[in-house]
Amino acid sequence: QDTSRPPLKYVKGVPLIKYFAEAIGPLQSLQPRPDDLLISTYPKSGTTWVSEILDMIYQDGDLEKCQRAPILTRVPFLEFKGPGCPTGMEVLKDTPAPRLLKTHLPLALLPQALLDQKIKVIYVARNAKDVAVSYYHFYRMAKVYPEPGTWDSFLEKFMAGEVSYGSWYQHVREWWELRHTHPVLYLFYEDMQENPKREIRKILEFVGRSLSEETVDHIVRHTSFKEMKKNPMANYSTLPVEIMDHNISAFMRKGITGDWKTMFTVAQNERFDAHYAEKMAGCNLKFHTEL
Ligand code: PPS
Repeated sequence: QDTSRPPLKYVKGVPLIKYFAEAIGPLQSLQPRPDDLLISTYPKSGTTWVSEILDMIYQDGDLEKCQRAPILTRVPFLEFKGPGCPTGMEVLKDTPAPRLLKTHLPLALLPQALLDQKIKVIYVARNAKDVAVSYYHFYRMAKVYPEPGTWDSFLEKFMAGEVSYGSWYQHVREWWELRHTHPVLYLFYEDMQENPKREIRKILEFVGRSLSEETVDHIVRHTSFKEMKKNPMANYSTLPVEIMDHNISAFMRKGITGDWKTMFTVAQNERFDAHYAEKMAGCNLKFHTEL
């Protein structure tokens, strides 16, 4: 077995890659500031995109300021740990307020203080089929993740919640329910693609800021897939190859909706749809998959 690809470790019933599992304990001592903003997503759902948008908003659209550091420094990734890199908590110590924080954790592993102190959350959800495909390619290139195996076996693991961060279904549902008791702006990747300007306006309202029309247009342009793919401060190319190997698959891979159609067989799709209906029964969350 490739020792650089350790198996998943379960923390409170949630499977995580070994490094992130080790970070969960220390993370619980996180002391939020009232002006923190938490970006939460299930992996591969548009985290980096919305992070870049938010940093641009916080820097009033100043492109040069957004070039000051890689995204993992500008938006500390709470449970991050990796060979040869500072942990998310270490990065956080040097992050000036107002801070943008990133997590993929399900609620069971989130530091309780973030919930108790009603820290504002921007959640981004993406349709399950595209997430599964994107996650499969990410598993291939992110060498701190286990080998994904074949696409067919990975899809089975995804459906069973046996991938890092556990069940997609539970994640999107529990953060959706949280809206009732916590300040959560719940966004969809597909809506951001359909009309990024509209979604940026929602974000501005939620964070209580305003920007000129021109600046918003500028942010839309700078955070397009094409621009972010070639931006070393956004595309994760600054990470050591032991963590991500972009020769296997680029982090900024395709950036489209509906790529699942190139991967799912008819049989996989039928099985997935039936399983999806069961897992999402009684939930009024609706995703566009046809954009
Ligand atoms: S991570 O590792 O969980 O934080 O990844 P995350 O950033 O959530 O998701 C990566 C996918 O988002 C796509 N992406 C974008 N799509 C559209 N526009 C922009 N600007 C953008 N930036 C990133 C990225 O390409 C991954 O999706 P796939 O389908 O693999 O291309």
